[in-house]
Amino acid sequence: MIGRLNHVAIAVPDLEAATATYKNALGAEVSEPHDVPEHGVTVVFVNLPNTKVELLHPLGDKSPIAKFLENNAGGGIHHVCYEVKDILAARDKLKSEGMRVLGNGDPKIGAHGNPVLFLHPKDFVGTLVELEQA
Ligand code: CO
Repeated sequence: MIGRLNHVAIAVPDLEAATATYKNALGAEVSEPHDVPEHGVTVVFVNLPNTKVELLHPLGDKSPIAKFLENNAGGGIHHVCYEVKDILAARDKLKSEGMRVLGNGDPKIGAHGNPVLFLHPKDFVGTLVELEQA
């Protein structure tokens, strides 16, 4: 069911420093920062030949990554995102397998303008999984 690895998201306490690390030390192509208020984050996209890395920084008071950064002050891998062709079919299959979909189960529009869902980390060997219809 899952297709390509769309991105790996890394929560970072200092977006400018993290962007500079990827740009200067690793020589990566990085985007300007984008605010995504619906998801409570500011994102910098790191474009790699085969996938993307997203550097996430909290935006606003209720950012879903604020708690993660409290527990991981230096930053860390927050989630991985896999592509699916049909997000509603994927959701229904996962629910039928007993997997937990976060939120109310309805897809939201993600940072790339496509529908996304998040799956409970306890059901996926300790990793928060995002599915993106792409
Ligand atoms: Co993501």
